[in-house]
Amino acid sequence: MSKLESFIRRMTAQRDCLNHTVELIKDLPGIVFELGLGNGRSYNHLCQILPEREIYVFDRRIASFPSCTPPEDHLFIGEVTHTLLKAAKVFGKKVAMVHVDLGTSDTVSSKQMMSKICPLLEPLVLPGAVIVSDTEFHGPVWEKIPGPMGIKKDRYFLYQTSSGL
Ligand SMILES: C[S@@+](CC[C@H](N)C(=O)[O-])C[C@H]1O[C@@H](n2cnc3c(N)ncnc32)[C@H](O)[C@@H]1O
Repeated sequence: MSKLESFIRRMTAQRDCLNHTVELIKDLPGIVFELGLGNGRSYNHLCQILPEREIYVFDRRIASFPSCTPPEDHLFIGEVTHTLLKAAKVFGKKVAMVHVDLGTSDTVSSKQMMSKICPLLEPLVLPGAVIVSDTEFHGPVWEKIPGPMGIKKDRYFLYQTSSGL
């Protein structure tokens, strides 16, 4: 498969998993976190599919298209391992959905980052919250759940917190 085809499949999986998650959290009121603003493409998509939700975005810096840049009061700028601690103080347990798109092509460092982020998300996520992730991870609180139909296994990942969290 060419790099272009692989990229298209990953982006298709990302979009389909985000759309699928809207259904999964429809009865779970709460805020949404986007970890990794980048160009702002997936943030822009989230704004369209979840127009009624507050969406907070985390990145080291702003490098997004102007039309895809969140308002300043919805941005956490800095290392996500620091800003998630700050967010926990601000919000507590109010997060219904997290999209994690921090990854590079380096799977090992992406997984290492994920293992740091998981415990930081625990005080923030509501029971039944969903994490949509570009990186596979394992954690006691998150159960891997099936993605939407048509997405090749292990192209994008969905996790849900147990309702007893
Ligand atoms: C793949 S891009 C995100 C793409 C974006 N979701 C989009 O659709 O355009 C990854 C982003 O994560 C950010 N990032 C990676 N590691 C980070 C960290 N430890 N703390 C904060 N931001 C980080 C990078 O600066 C980069 O903007």
